[in-house]
Amino acid sequence: MPEQKDLYELGETPPLGHVPKQMYASLIRQERFGQPKDAFAVEVVDVPEVGPKEVLVWVMAAGVNYNNVWSALGYPVNVIAARNKAGEPEDFHIGGSDASGVVWVVGSEVQNCKVGDEVVLSCGYWDEDAPDVQAGVDPMMSASNKIWGYETNYGSFAQFTRVKHFQVHPKPKQLTWEAAGAYMLVGATAYRMLCGWPPHVVQEGDPVLVWGATGGLGVMATQIVKAKGGVPIAVVSDESKFEMCYQLGAKGVINRRDPAFTHWGRLPDVDDAEAFAAWAKGARAFGAKFWEVLGERKSPRIVFEHPGEATVPTSVFMADNGGMVVICAGTSGFNADVDLRYLWMRQKRLQGSHFANTEQCAALNEMVAAGQVDPVLSQVFPFTGVGDAHQLMHDNAHPAGNMSILVNATTEGETTLDVS
Ligand SMILES: NC(=O)c1ccc[n+]([C@@H]2O[C@H](COP(=O)([O-])OP(=O)(O)OC[C@H]3O[C@@H](n4cnc5c(N)ncnc54)[C@H](OP(=O)(O)O)[C@@H]3O)[C@@H](O)[C@H]2O)c1
Repeated sequence: MPEQKDLYELGETPPLGHVPKQMYASLIRQERFGQPKDAFAVEVVDVPEVGPKEVLVWVMAAGVNYNNVWSALGYPVNVIAARNKAGEPEDFHIGGSDASGVVWVVGSEVQNCKVGDEVVLSCGYWDEDAPDVQAGVDPMMSASNKIWGYETNYGSFAQFTRVKHFQVHPKPKQLTWEAAGAYMLVGATAYRMLCGWPPHVVQEGDPVLVWGATGGLGVMATQIVKAKGGVPIAVVSDESKFEMCYQLGAKGVINRRDPAFTHWGRLPDVDDAEAFAAWAKGARAFGAKFWEVLGERKSPRIVFEHPGEATVPTSVFMADNGGMVVICAGTSGFNADVDLRYLWMRQKRLQGSHFANTEQCAALNEMVAAGQVDPVLSQVFPFTGVGDAHQLMHDNAHPAGNMSILVNATTEGETTLDVS
C-alpha cells in the first residue's frame, strides 16, 4: 500500500481514494497573460473539494484545445476576472477541457460511476437544477451552460480535476491514456454539428465540405461523415496534408491556397460591381473544384464551418439549396459577412453549434470505442509542455490531429492504472 502524503510527485500514485492536500497544476495567472508558452507555469495548489453531485478524477492525460489558447491570451475574455466578478476567489486558471483518468472520489449523490473507474471526461457543464434544464431544454442551451476547464476552474492540467457526474464516460479500453485524453471535446463538438441539427443530419451519400480537415475538429468531422455514409470533401492549406485526409475517409481534397482562390475574407460591397465580380470568380473557382474532386455536380448538403470570417461567405455560397452551414467558431475573425440573397433565395440554414449534450458525448464515445472514430493523436507532451503545446496551436504550427499532455501517466503507451 503506498504511503499517504500531502503532495505526490508526478509518477507517484496515492492509495486509491486518498486525497492529498495539494497537487501540481500547470496554471495561468493574469500577470502572465500573453503568448501561451509564457502564460502557463507549474505550481502547487490545494486540491479542490467535491460537492454531492461532483466527481474528483486523478488525471492520467489531458487533451489540448484551442480554448486555452484564448485563456492564455486573456482574450477575448479574461476568464479569471470573469470568475472573480461572479464571486469565485481563485486568482488562477487551471485550464484543460479534455482528460482521461481514474475516478478518485464521488459525491454522496453520484450514481453513474464509482471510485476506481477508468474514464474520459466531457466538457459540457451546466446546473441540473436550473429552471431551463428542469423544463427540458437541451442543457447546452441552458443559461447555466459553461465549458469545464475554460469557463470553469480546476480543468485537466493538474493532478486532480473536479467535474460534475454527467461529464464522466467510460474510457475506451483499447486506447492509451494519452489517446483517450485527446478526442472528446473536438469529437463530440463535431458529432453535434453533423448529427444534432435535424433534418440536416449526415445521411448516406451526402456531400459534406469540411474546413481544416486535418485540424482537431476536422479529423473528427471527416471520420464521422464517412462512418455515417456521407461523402467528406476536405479543405486544407497544404498538399502535404492530402494523404492524411484520404486516410481519414475524404473522397476529395482541396488546397485552399490554390492561386485560383482569391476571395477569402469579408465580402466586398455588393454595389462595387468590379470587386464583387472578382469575389464571385474566386468563389466559383472554389465551387468548380469541389465538383471536380467530388466527381459530380452536387453541392454540399452540410458545410462544417469554424474558420469564420475568412470562409463564411464561401460556405454560404457553397451550401446546396436547402443545405446547412453549421458553425462552432470564428478562428480567423468574428465579423463574417453573409450574402443574404443566397441565404433566403436558396433557403439555406446558418446554424450555430456549441460542444454537445450528454447523449451526444455518449454517442461519439461509442463510435470511438467501436473503432469507427480514431482520436488521431499527434504529439504527446510532458506535464511541463502545456505552454509549448498551446503555443504551437496558437501559431497554427501544430501537427495534424490532436495533442495530449501526460499528467500522472509519465510514460506513453499505458492503457490502465494498477491501483491495487
Ligand atoms: N464551440 C465549440 O464547441 C468548439 C469546439 C472545438 C473547437 N472550437 C473552436 O474551433 C476552432 C478550431 O478548433 P480546432 O481544434 O479544430 O483547431 P485546429 O486544430 O487549429 O484546426 C483548425 C484548422 O482550421 C484551418 N484554418 C485555420 N485558419 C484558416 C483560414 N483562415 N481559413 C480556412 N481554414 C483555416 C487550419 O487548417 P489548414 O491550414 O490546413 O486549412 C487548421 O488546421 C477554434 O477556434 C476552437 O476554439 C469550438
